[in-house]
Amino acid sequence: MRLSTVTLMCTGVLFACGGRDDHDHPQLKSGADLYNHHCAACHQGSGDGTFLKGVPPVRYTTMTYRQMVHYIQGHGRAEDSRMPTFSAMPKHEAEAIAIYVRRQLNLR
Ligand code: HEC
Repeated sequence: MRLSTVTLMCTGVLFACGGRDDHDHPQLKSGADLYNHHCAACHQGSGDGTFLKGVPPVRYTTMTYRQMVHYIQGHGRAEDSRMPTFSAMPKHEAEAIAIYVRRQLNLR
């Protein structure tokens, strides 16, 4: 199989695996709920990531809480970032998720 075919397939998988940027979910309140809705499809509930899809484990991230909020909002990313920018996500939601990742999932 040629490399370009493999790349195309991976891209397809990444899009298929979520990146849900829908925010009409009043039932989701805690950082854990929000993380599981928006992030876990790629980074997994445990925060271990998905190695085969090139998704890094957020539980080992060295990012601070503030850096992570910016990152979720699409700032400070590589140009070819494959993570959705969540441009429609309210700030308080990104903050709740970042707190959850820092305090609950992070092992550092
Ligand atoms: C479609 C899959 C996908 C979704 C959904 C996703 N990410 Fe990511 N994430 C990635 C990929 C791929 C990377 C690797 C860097 C890149 O491509 O931008 C990444 C990188 C990261 C990093 C950087 C890790 C580090 O230490 O460098 C953090 C933090 C992160 N994601 C948090 C989140 C959070 C929080 C959410 C939910 C709001 C989320 N991601 C949703 C795919 C995803």
